[in-house]
Amino acid sequence: MAKTAFITGATSGFGKASARRFVKAGWHVIGTGRRADRLNALVEELGADNMHAACFDISDSDALNAAVAALPDRFKNIDLLINNAGLALGTAPAQKADLEQWQTMIDTNVRGLVTLTHKLLPTLIEQKGAIINVSSVAASYPYPGGNVYGGTKAFVVQFSLGLRSDLHGTGVRVTCIEPCMTETEFTLVRTKGNRDASDALYKGANPMTGEDLAETMLWIAEQPAHLNINRIELMPVNQSFSPFQVYRSEASRAKKLRRSVENCAKQEVDRISEAQSDLRHINVLPPLLSRRATPGMTATAAVPDLAE
Ligand SMILES: NC(=O)c1ccc[n+]([C@@H]2O[C@H](COP(=O)([O-])OP(=O)(O)OC[C@H]3O[C@@H](n4cnc5c(N)ncnc54)[C@H](OP(=O)(O)O)[C@@H]3O)[C@@H](O)[C@H]2O)c1
Repeated sequence: MAKTAFITGATSGFGKASARRFVKAGWHVIGTGRRADRLNALVEELGADNMHAACFDISDSDALNAAVAALPDRFKNIDLLINNAGLALGTAPAQKADLEQWQTMIDTNVRGLVTLTHKLLPTLIEQKGAIINVSSVAASYPYPGGNVYGGTKAFVVQFSLGLRSDLHGTGVRVTCIEPCMTETEFTLVRTKGNRDASDALYKGANPMTGEDLAETMLWIAEQPAHLNINRIELMPVNQSFSPFQVYRSEASRAKKLRRSVENCAKQEVDRISEAQSDLRHINVLPPLLSRRATPGMTATAAVPDLAE
């Protein structure tokens, strides 16, 4: 019998690609999102027998409860919950960020995710099912402007590990996936529809795709029932780590520069003094110097005294 996956955020990116991949692999899928037209188009593409569209805002608990209650019998026995719906808003530093955007990220990435998980846990336990939570590398590696987004994704990691502990003995598996740069509508949403910014970010970077993530999620879901993948971190090959940033005050930067100029000057003076000292001990002028020096001149007089 076909298994059933409840995939949030199926109107775009990872979620849409996963809905397609899971149906192709023989699963039934419940796909969610706020954009009904996109969900309906996906149902048309994948077939109403294979996909059920549940259109609701995940931060609205009443709408979420109503959508779960309205699931057709054929889609009620959920074996897998993919908590994927989520977003980042803004790239400003915390001191310049928009509080409303912070609250939307928390309501979607944290509040929506835990509300749906709480709602579906009894079914998942009954089915000895699985949960795949979509976090991000932003959970582990902070970056400027990542503030609340990174915080919500760190919550998802820790919540996933906590679920593992609590679900001990139930047979329910829990995995947290932590992807890095993947080309979806993510940056378009983050920048309020700035297509140029989104294109510039991905251009030439060969980022991961929604299909890459869908393949990974299917692989996780189809592991043997006794095997749990706790966490998995994914990056495009072209992305890696860079050093910590260090802030230096103007005064300390000026001091450092002065010290390095002084050091250079001192080394030069020492070098010339050494050369002068060597020449003072030479009675016969070296051929090159003797050619340049005026007849009767001493070696000491031919070398300028830079030590002054
Ligand atoms: N792309 C990346 O580089 C990347 C990296 C690490 C982690 N992630 C995470 O991966 C997940 C999927 O992102 P994506 O890259 O596929 O982005 P995406 O293309 O923008 O897709 C996001 C999905 O989430 C849904 N969603 C957002 N807010 C919602 C709400 N309030 N209610 C219901 N659904 C909502 C959207 O549906 P509607 O707009 O139709 O509601 C959409 O289907 C997110 O959790 C994101 O944080 C992405």
